Amino acid sequence: MNTYDLIMKKRNGGILDKDEITYIVNGFTNGTIPDYQMSAFLMALYFRGMNDRETTDLTMAMADSGDRLDLSGINGRKVDKHSTGGVGDKTSLIVGPILACLGVPVAKMSGRGLGHTGGTIDKLEGIPGFQTSISEEAFIEQVNKVNLAIVGQTANLAPADKKIYALRDVTATVDNISLIASSIMSKKLAAGADAIVLDVKVGSGAFMKNIDDARALAKEMVSIGRLAGRDVTAVITDMNEPLGNNVGNILEVIEAVECLKGHGETRLMEVSKTLASYMLLASGKADSIEKAKELIEEVIENGKAFEKMKEFVEAQGGDSSYLDNIDKFEKTKYERVIKGKDFIEKYGDASGGKTYYLSECNNEEIGMTSLILGGGRQTKEDVIDLSVGIKLNKHLGDKLEADDKVAVLYGNSLDKIEEAFNRFVGAYKITDTEITKNPIVYGVIDN
Ligand code: URA
Repeated sequence: MNTYDLIMKKRNGGILDKDEITYIVNGFTNGTIPDYQMSAFLMALYFRGMNDRETTDLTMAMADSGDRLDLSGINGRKVDKHSTGGVGDKTSLIVGPILACLGVPVAKMSGRGLGHTGGTIDKLEGIPGFQTSISEEAFIEQVNKVNLAIVGQTANLAPADKKIYALRDVTATVDNISLIASSIMSKKLAAGADAIVLDVKVGSGAFMKNIDDARALAKEMVSIGRLAGRDVTAVITDMNEPLGNNVGNILEVIEAVECLKGHGETRLMEVSKTLASYMLLASGKADSIEKAKELIEEVIENGKAFEKMKEFVEAQGGDSSYLDNIDKFEKTKYERVIKGKDFIEKYGDASGGKTYYLSECNNEEIGMTSLILGGGRQTKEDVIDLSVGIKLNKHLGDKLEADDKVAVLYGNSLDKIEEAFNRFVGAYKITDTEITKNPIVYGVIDN
């Protein structure tokens, strides 16, 4: 077997067998296949695609490229969740404590933000003292004690994905269904949970821009899970605007606290409760979605979910007094209010007499606004400012009056705030006719 022949086979639309796929994955991971050949292979795969069997073989080869986490030391049925990535998505911080206080062990490995998307690990590091890197032994002990631990991915979990993802990121080969499905599922399979609930995002802030592609990705991942003997459910949710009101690391922790105290924004709560319900169902702790939703609402109302969040933060070295008193969190030096008139002057008729509504949002641009403020990374090495971000007061479909406060930008540099302001206002469209809001949950795909 040689790499040149395999690149040519895929370039010509051929179907690769398991040994050929394993040869490519192992060769690239151990360095015998150089970046330039792997780049050519990825581009051939991008255009020619892979069938379900090839995608599953690719996933298994990537999952087997490093260690698999052994969760057998954790009592009970372990349930994991994963989002395909978005803007303002803090659902893990809400869902984790809810499940943990309902007796479901959640042993979660999460990622950092890259590009316009955020990552749970960066958000948790906004809580002073919080340790995102702990030993495997401490991780398992914490899950047995608290039912919840969230750590960064260890170096040797699916190392093939780490290398391939870095190359995809610079060769315009990220948004391919086989490559995304294998990337996510290789990590999830290696991370060892019995059941996995996937949040497949669709819209302008997601990798999948339309519902057909999102459904195809969801089906692919559910099918891989089934072949690997795991119980996988995919929920398809909207990412045409930020999820919830806050975007930015510390701001998102604060919003998660508000949600756990029962004051969450409607759409964010609907996604969080839906994901948590399917996780409860998969854990066997609820026998219907309706029952699961009841249990979830109960632990939010009686304060147990918020208490669990504090217990989890303390267990991982964080100072939970910040969650009791969110005013303690670090503040930015500057803030800039964005008003309705900023949109009306740019897109509409500012002389008055017309009623406007926010009609469209290029959500990737909102992620970029947060990145410009300092809250995101363009390269893995970038250092981020955890305090910056955006608070939104309006969502798509909302009425827009000139004096309305639409959003507030939080930053530590006036130049960056100015750039972010232009980017933010430029990301929206307005209309003078009332529009219907997008659904938040588009559908569920399971075994
Ligand atoms: N998230 C991943 O982990 N991998 C992808 O390819 C896309 C999103």
